[in-house]
Amino acid sequence: MFEQRHILAFFGQNCYNECMELMIPCASGLEAIVKRQLAQLGYPHAPAENGRLNLTGDWSDVARLNVFLRSGERVLIKLLSFHAETFDELFDGVYGIPWENWLDLHSLVLIDGKSVKSKLGAIKASGGVVKKAIMRRLCEKLHSRSPRLEEDGARSIVGVSIFCDEVTVTLDTSGDGLHKRGYRSLAYTAPLKETTAAALIDMTYYNADKPFADLFCGSGTLPIEAAMRSLHIAPGMHRSFDFTAWKCAPRQVLENALTEAKDAVSLRPLSVLARDISKDAVSIAQYHAKRAGVHKFIRFETGDMRTFRSQERYGILLSNPPYGERLSDKESVKTLYRDLGKVYSSLSDWSAYLLTGLPEADRYFGKHADKKKKIWNANIECGFYSFLGAPPPKEPRRTQEIL
Ligand SMILES: C[S@@+](CC[C@H](N)C(=O)[O-])C[C@H]1O[C@@H](n2cnc3c(N)ncnc32)[C@H](O)[C@@H]1O
Repeated sequence: MFEQRHILAFFGQNCYNECMELMIPCASGLEAIVKRQLAQLGYPHAPAENGRLNLTGDWSDVARLNVFLRSGERVLIKLLSFHAETFDELFDGVYGIPWENWLDLHSLVLIDGKSVKSKLGAIKASGGVVKKAIMRRLCEKLHSRSPRLEEDGARSIVGVSIFCDEVTVTLDTSGDGLHKRGYRSLAYTAPLKETTAAALIDMTYYNADKPFADLFCGSGTLPIEAAMRSLHIAPGMHRSFDFTAWKCAPRQVLENALTEAKDAVSLRPLSVLARDISKDAVSIAQYHAKRAGVHKFIRFETGDMRTFRSQERYGILLSNPPYGERLSDKESVKTLYRDLGKVYSSLSDWSAYLLTGLPEADRYFGKHADKKKKIWNANIECGFYSFLGAPPPKEPRRTQEIL
């Protein structure tokens, strides 16, 4: 028999205030950034584990996290964790979850499974067992005449992650990954994930008062995310989430989160530049920026990065240049980085940040990186190099007048 450790989530229906265990998966290496974003959103207690953050919250939190979180990949409700080494143990464990409180006979149940270092390694077969257990439970508890679900209703993605024979079952409230903000419909070569782009911006000293430039903007992800952050535009304002179609989730919570998001938007002039050598890339970036509602806050230019000059000071250059793996050959890429280093030297007090899979990119760039961090981008191990410029002078402190 399986050992039931704890049923973590509350199984009552339509209850706003009941506490659930939530999990936010994120790209490996970005846990600290997502943790900081959570703290800024009012969730200071979110311990990080390999590639995910754990916290507790109610349905209002589920809605807020989906709408506001910039670099988390999804918002999952953790239903149960238990030990299982056989299909029978897996079936019993999953059957023990009161699915009737989460799903109905029309739910379209999709299983998203993964298994690492576990006896239940055949993930396709395990997924079949999980689905069977859910169907059996629902049909019995909801007195269905048919042994199968209709599956013509709302989508529910059930996550089954097995690590060292410990099974964790989750329900995905987001549905489509949170990187899908809704503005990026076209792709120009090797676009960055929006969630990764937002995390990279958070790893710089950028703020809305500073100039921002991406000289290799491609489809525009970095400048668009920078503008959205500076204008306080929530990333999930213009998309849908699976949980809103579930009977167990209160109707009002998304509306409340969206009202909060609308109230938070604060438009102001920005200096954000999206530049690329390709005319097509720039027009795609422009199109995406329009869809994101930020095109009026970004300057778009077509040009080789070698011709970029700026009189502005204390700017942030953040780019994801080609690195030879997928886009161009290694030798021309090394020359590109050498020339980029020269362009950077011409900029007064700017900081430069590069995400690249080119090993030892700082050697070609011609400067010693102040920081280097490993980040996975599209399954490629990349380095995120920070070259820090001088900080802007601090406002002189007013000395208190003594009367
Ligand atoms: C990896 S892609 C950038 C992807 C982008 N971050 C996104 O999310 O869509 C690299 C970009 O560099 C551009 N590029 C290549 N050589 C360039 C050069 N010499 N000057 C400016 N842009 C260049 C390419 O046209 C391509 O759009």
